[in-house]
Amino acid sequence: MSDSVLRRLYREQAPRAPEGRFLLEDLIAGSGPLELDIGFGRGLSLFERTAAAPESRIIGIEVKTKLAYKAAERLEKRGIEKVMILCGDAREILKRAEPSRSVERVALHFPDPWWKKRHDKRRVIGEALLGDLARLMAPGGELFIQTDVEHRAEQYRAQLQDTPGFTLASGGGYVGVNPFGARSNREKRALEDGLPVWRILATRD
Ligand SMILES: C[S@@+](CC[C@H](N)C(=O)[O-])C[C@H]1O[C@@H](n2cnc3c(N)ncnc32)[C@H](O)[C@@H]1O
Repeated sequence: MSDSVLRRLYREQAPRAPEGRFLLEDLIAGSGPLELDIGFGRGLSLFERTAAAPESRIIGIEVKTKLAYKAAERLEKRGIEKVMILCGDAREILKRAEPSRSVERVALHFPDPWWKKRHDKRRVIGEALLGDLARLMAPGGELFIQTDVEHRAEQYRAQLQDTPGFTLASGGGYVGVNPFGARSNREKRALEDGLPVWRILATRD
């Protein structure tokens, strides 16, 4: 298939969120805890997380159509029904998501690979997303963010501190290990290369 045909296939067939306001809990049958993996990229964290927590219902959101399509295809091939893919901008999708206080865990592994000032508006972590996560997360729910860029980690930590409804883990929010037992592709590579990773954990009050 030519590149343009493939691009159209990804664009047309990557799974999308329902239109308008929608219920996260309607996306995956059953009653396990709801989790979000925002910007899952090549998707290793989805597969490792569903193996680590088979009872959980995991919703992965990815803006790139090819990555969303490929992850959905792999999940279907492996018969994994507890992970659902939504293709689109997590900020736009989560604005429309309901109900409040329904999500137990949220992971953002190595978000925001953009460095230039003019790309600031593309950054997924900001007031809007954190506000929606505060609304959607259940009391006691865990929000985990990790990055290999120290100053970004410090920004995320400060943003979380300023968001009503979240309390950083003791010790200023930094934790030594990934608490979800599921590596992302970037994390796996960083660990293999011996590079430092900054990990932040916050709890919904
Ligand atoms: C640096 S990559 C990290 C991928 C993966 N989480 C990992 O750690 O290997 C950041 C990912 O976030 C996705 N992304 C960026 N902005 C997004 C948004 N607004 N909504 C959903 N996904 C987004 C990108 O397409 C990319 O796949």
